[in-house]
Amino acid sequence: MAITFNVNGSPVKVEAPAETPLLWILREYLKLPGTRFGCGAGLCGACMVHVDGDRAFSCQTSVSAVSGRSVTTIEGLSKDSTHPVQQAWLAEQVPQCGYCQSGHIMSAAALLAHNAKPSRDEIVEYMSVHICRCGTYPRILSAIQRASQEG
Ligand code: FES
Ligand code: FES
Repeated sequence: MAITFNVNGSPVKVEAPAETPLLWILREYLKLPGTRFGCGAGLCGACMVHVDGDRAFSCQTSVSAVSGRSVTTIEGLSKDSTHPVQQAWLAEQVPQCGYCQSGHIMSAAALLAHNAKPSRDEIVEYMSVHICRCGTYPRILSAIQRASQEG
């Protein structure tokens, strides 16, 4: 079926089976590789994007579910990496291998959009859906606290 939606501010129309995961559409159809495939089961957070401003696991979201809606991927979070979360990530030198990081950044941006001054516990709770094999959790916490203070 043909599905029309918005990605990073631009309308797109894709021909795909309705139940195709949004993650596949982003990576394979639209060539936006910043959103990562980790577990494919809603367990790691590597595939996190925004749908109408709220975070969503793109591996668990069918493309038909975003028909007529707005999707933002890491490529669309800012034009030039100037989003406060991206700046804080750089300042705290968060990534190691980097594989999981776009998902973390998208969650952090969604958190701060809804709660500009989260407590430490609120950050830990919100980010607990993510897994980082490299163990960057302390730096992620520091970066979100920095973005909250400076953003
Ligand atoms: S790839 Fe979607 S949660 Fe792991
Ligand atoms: S930075 Fe390597 S998996 Fe998170």
